[in-house]
Amino acid sequence: MRILFLGDVVGRTGREAVAAWLPKLRQLLRIDMAVVNAENASHGFGLAPEMAREIFAAWADAITLGNHAWDRKELIPFIAETPRLVRPLNFPPGTPGSGSSVVALRDGRKVLVMNAMGRLYMDALDCPFRATAVELSKHRMGGTVAAVLIDFHGEATSEKMAFGHSFDGQASLIVGTHTHCPSADHMVLAGGTAFQSDAGMCGDYDSVIGMQKDLAAARFWRKLPGERLHPADGESTVCGVFVETNDTTGLALRIEPVRQGGRLSQTLPTV
Ligand SMILES: [Fe+2]
Ligand SMILES: [Fe+2]
Repeated sequence: MRILFLGDVVGRTGREAVAAWLPKLRQLLRIDMAVVNAENASHGFGLAPEMAREIFAAWADAITLGNHAWDRKELIPFIAETPRLVRPLNFPPGTPGSGSSVVALRDGRKVLVMNAMGRLYMDALDCPFRATAVELSKHRMGGTVAAVLIDFHGEATSEKMAFGHSFDGQASLIVGTHTHCPSADHMVLAGGTAFQSDAGMCGDYDSVIGMQKDLAAARFWRKLPGERLHPADGESTVCGVFVETNDTTGLALRIEPVRQGGRLSQTLPTV
């Protein structure tokens, strides 16, 4: 199976880039399964239901979220009826939506998509490690599901790597989100799980993690309440990872970075 994961979509320029690039990348890389983290799609904060519909229409099979999951409150009723929209699984019990979803592809294969959130330099939540272990025990990769994809939304690289190694061999791909900067540590771990500690964002890199640079920098200079941040609106780089898996085991054969458009150096795997 060929999987494409795209990192945090930031604002209008990020949404437009995903709408333009995702169908193209699906075709070019012969993608079977595409997942997009869209926690910043709505002006940098949250995801409005109509934006989720647009991303699904660009042929995302699932959408993941993060700490900005509820910034657009309209998403709360929408997520309850949209199983392919996955929020972090370690929110308190009773939180609307689900932290995991078995997504059926057009060809009938099933993929388990999960989203967990880190706790280092993040809001206090239930333990993402224990929550993930419980959820994974309900499925069998290579059996009930052909592949398992986990978006680990966190700030700290150490926690992300610890998470990756903890579930090595139990997932096809564990990819980090939230920092908005693509890391260069993509690898297939010893047990066969593809890993990259951060996918990067789908947003304008002439910015501070996707937000207009002057306003964002001013917050560091002046310790006063600043103006509300607005997303940068230059051309976005679409950042993500491409993974090829073995359907029998669900394990990864390779992982390659994807960066297209905008300011970052361009890279595209050959298939
Ligand atoms: Fe983000
Ligand atoms: Fe985030």
